[in-house]
Amino acid sequence: MRSVVVTGAGSGIGLSTTELLIDAGWHVIAADRDSAALERLQERHGNQETSLTTVALHITDEKAIADLAEKCRNLSAPLEALVNSAGIGSNVRFADTTADQFRRIYDINVVGAFALSQALAPILRENGGGSIVHIASVSGITGNLGRSAYGASKGALITLTKIMAVELADDLIRVNAIAPGPIETPMVKENHTAVTREEWHRTVPMRRYGQPEEIASAIAFLVDGRQSSYVTGQILAVDGGFTAAGLMA
Ligand SMILES: NC(=O)c1ccc[n+]([C@@H]2O[C@H](COP(=O)([O-])OP(=O)(O)OC[C@H]3O[C@@H](n4cnc5c(N)ncnc54)[C@H](O)[C@@H]3O)[C@@H](O)[C@H]2O)c1
Repeated sequence: MRSVVVTGAGSGIGLSTTELLIDAGWHVIAADRDSAALERLQERHGNQETSLTTVALHITDEKAIADLAEKCRNLSAPLEALVNSAGIGSNVRFADTTADQFRRIYDINVVGAFALSQALAPILRENGGGSIVHIASVSGITGNLGRSAYGASKGALITLTKIMAVELADDLIRVNAIAPGPIETPMVKENHTAVTREEWHRTVPMRRYGQPEEIASAIAFLVDGRQSSYVTGQILAVDGGFTAAGLMA
């Protein structure tokens, strides 16, 4: 058995990825700040002690990250992968975004993924290599309205992905990112108005939102060294064609 750490495992894309990887035979270390969500996850997999370990943490808490790394050193199923899905969104115009909002989003979406990757990379290296997957966004690729802080954070994550891929290749650690389009998760249900939804339906060639499972299966491909052994430094848009589109009518 192999182990994988998934952050943001309590909801949406991270939750769906956790369920899929458990089904695929991984031991998942599911981390999230939402301990109630982790308890619900644990209840669902109560009879699968070897498949799931839950860890309540804030991704910005460096001590908690160090403790998680320590836990990952002593696993009976060696750590082979990390999925950084913990993140927060916002839909605020550039002119209205405060420096505090910008810093908060950057701290969770970029510094959090950076710090946990840095803490776990030596363990992956000692275990003979592995895979790190960041969850970026199409808003890190295109200039989407209202995404100045969020989009900039995801753009930074995309560049970080490429730099980490180069620097960690000698350690046999592959680093890739998924750039999801609009996906039906609690984050989106909270942020997307009827007008936003209409706009996505107009600009996504497949004319629909994606489901968390459709991101999870792409993550599972990138996580698994048997399937994606020569893939590193890539940004895979899973977006119904949004970033490929030009004229639509
Ligand atoms: N849903 C989309 O349309 C969409 C599109 C592009 C990218 N993304 C990205 O996918 C990732 C997952 O988003 P989602 O839609 O599943 O959202 P979600 O809100 O459903 O899930 C996010 C999870 O991250 C956890 N989290 C947030 N901040 C945290 C912190 N500081 N420490 C620990 N855990 C924390 C939350 O508790 C939650 O369980 C995010 O990085 C998001 O930016 C989502």
